[in-house]
Amino acid sequence: MNSSPPSLSVHIKTFGCQMNEYDSGRILKILEPHGYCPALSYDDASVIILNTCSVRKKAEDKLYSELGRIKKMKKKRPDVILGVGGCVAQQEGTKLLKRFPYINFVFGTRSLARLPGILKRAEAGERNVDTEMNMPEDMYPLRPCSPQTSGVTAFVTIMQGCNNYCSYCIVPYVRGREWSRRPSEIKEEIKNLVDCGIREVTLLGQNVNSYGKTLMPMTTFPELLQDLNGIRGLERIRFTTSHPKDLSDELITCFKNIEKLASHIHLPLQSGSNRILKKMNRGYTIETYMKRIDLFRHADPEAAITSDIIVGFPGESEKDFNETVSVIEKTCFDDLFVFHYTDRPDTAASKLSGKIPYKTKLERLSLINKIQNAISIKNNQKLVKKTLSVLFEYPSKKGNNSIAGRTSSNKVVNCKGPVDLIGKTVPVKIEKANVHSLNGVLI
Ligand code: SAH
Ligand code: SF4
Ligand code: F3S
Repeated sequence: MNSSPPSLSVHIKTFGCQMNEYDSGRILKILEPHGYCPALSYDDASVIILNTCSVRKKAEDKLYSELGRIKKMKKKRPDVILGVGGCVAQQEGTKLLKRFPYINFVFGTRSLARLPGILKRAEAGERNVDTEMNMPEDMYPLRPCSPQTSGVTAFVTIMQGCNNYCSYCIVPYVRGREWSRRPSEIKEEIKNLVDCGIREVTLLGQNVNSYGKTLMPMTTFPELLQDLNGIRGLERIRFTTSHPKDLSDELITCFKNIEKLASHIHLPLQSGSNRILKKMNRGYTIETYMKRIDLFRHADPEAAITSDIIVGFPGESEKDFNETVSVIEKTCFDDLFVFHYTDRPDTAASKLSGKIPYKTKLERLSLINKIQNAISIKNNQKLVKKTLSVLFEYPSKKGNNSIAGRTSSNKVVNCKGPVDLIGKTVPVKIEKANVHSLNGVLI
């Protein structure tokens, strides 16, 4: 163990979604002018920050196990300052300070700009909490500073919050009301990223279809895509997530007309039963969902479609579940993220009766995964012998002189090749299909 970490150094452990990863990067940027440098591990850090997720119970529990580990470490190094931020911090606020006496400060999802002050107070011995939910106008610097980014791909948050209130979801409570960043600011940030070598960006928002509604003058997500398409040196634009109820014709047309927009959409279905979709407050029926998928496939026949499913929502019968299975079999998604329902504090669904036993939820989850794996590999097998453009991103985890990248449709491709191809888009002939990846050769 390093007994004397640099006087001001921060190690951030990030849980949850890409938005949290993006926020962790911003926390480092916000603290840098105040003399804090990034630390590679807890042992090298004078400040530890846990950036937390609350979307499912398991995600929240990860914080509590991590706190157990840090408690032991703090016995040996009581001088280490410990902060908890992100979605669990927003949800629990002061309760965290009361329950865990070794936490020094707590900050919410819209408190990032105030972090230097919060941290200074904590270092002066004041245990403090900032979970104010104001609109985050001051969260982003007007002129984004040069990002310290290495790599080929980057996330860029374009909006905060969500107004949808799906009945199972904690996000609107912990991320607040919808709020969009200005297009000029997003563009400048992406130009900076491209100058640092980034070739692909993923635009982040809980519901990108609502982008621009809070801005004066108002703008739209398709207009933003059009604008970003003009950035020289940027090769691919992805986004997540689009809500099926708001997937507009204009956005579907972007997949035809916007050259840099990648051929992939993540369109969370959640359930294949209209009865359950209604209880989830999703705002669409299975028929309208299928219609949007048809239009999308028509606009971009090569595109991949992925989705999220929740099994075991309160009241989900065998019949409801079978309807979900049949939609999955009909739609042939390229990949699925399947979750078993868990209650989140204060959400409408947590108050519903008809909770499904854990064992049933797990059986349903594993059945869907089995069905989807068979579909995924079948979809991937259709790509064998085809030549696809792959943007290489990193040396392959498998080693043996391999590099890995993704197709425009977001399929991971492993292939033997030199590391100097990382950052380049090159044609690859696909030779083998796996469930979650492809193998190919350079041509
Ligand atoms: N804004 C995104 C979703 C973010 S949460 C969207 O609307 O698609 C990511 C996924 O977590 C959701 O799509 C849902 O499938 C899952 N999820 C959210 N709350 C959940 C809960 N209480 N239990 C289980 N899964 C949940
Ligand atoms: Fe949650 Fe629904 Fe908003 Fe997605 S759209 S973040 S699932 S409330
Ligand atoms: Fe989790 Fe918050 Fe993201 S709840 S999924 S970290 S928005």
